[in-house]
Amino acid sequence: KISACIFDLDGVVVDTAKYHYIAWRSLANELGFDFTKEDNERLKGVSRMTSLDILLEIGNVELDEKTKLQLAEKKNKNYLEYILKMTPDEILPGVKDFFKVLKSEGIKIALGSASKNAMTILKQLQLTDYFDAIVDGTHVSKAKPDPEVFLKGAELLGFSPAECIVFEDAEAGVEAALNGKMRCVGIGSPEVLGKANLVVPGFVGLTMAQLDF
Ligand code: BG6
Ligand code: MG
Repeated sequence: KISACIFDLDGVVVDTAKYHYIAWRSLANELGFDFTKEDNERLKGVSRMTSLDILLEIGNVELDEKTKLQLAEKKNKNYLEYILKMTPDEILPGVKDFFKVLKSEGIKIALGSASKNAMTILKQLQLTDYFDAIVDGTHVSKAKPDPEVFLKGAELLGFSPAECIVFEDAEAGVEAALNGKMRCVGIGSPEVLGKANLVVPGFVGLTMAQLDF
């Protein structure tokens, strides 16, 4: 039985990866190296500071903690300029209809995101009111694949992990769900998300019957 659905944000509800890419690449260029689209793939689902560490590793740059915090802050300011221009048009296809189906079935909706910008993004997309619980990067101390973010979501809704299904586009996120003893639907390609109970390319046409696993 499903009582709740917990959604990752970036890559599941909206494609923010393109804005992360612009902002990280501009930082890399300032530091004197390039950062490719393929490099950007490695940052999916990863926290802001870990993303910076991966970027610096690619550029072979070593910096002290204080400088790293300043650079992360700078990247985020740049990223926010794009985020603040987002509109509900950028909600990925089928997401809103799926939320409406869940509401009509009495299934609760939670957010389980690593992003510290999640509230801003939901507001831009005018989706905040769909969520019965929101857990984001400001509420957790352990990154996915640790299940903390999803367990907190389930707890806020008052359900056990077995009553929840997680929707994730990143491998670490699928692992986090499974580590939390939750079922998981992968949004994306089976090559990357093969451990999920079900993998679909997106929400268009997804039915409740498919979630019966
Ligand atoms: C995740 C994204 O949802 O949030 C990552 O997939 C991102 O790419 C992480 O680094 C942290 O985001 P933010 O908004 O706190 O910098
Ligand atoms: Mg994601």
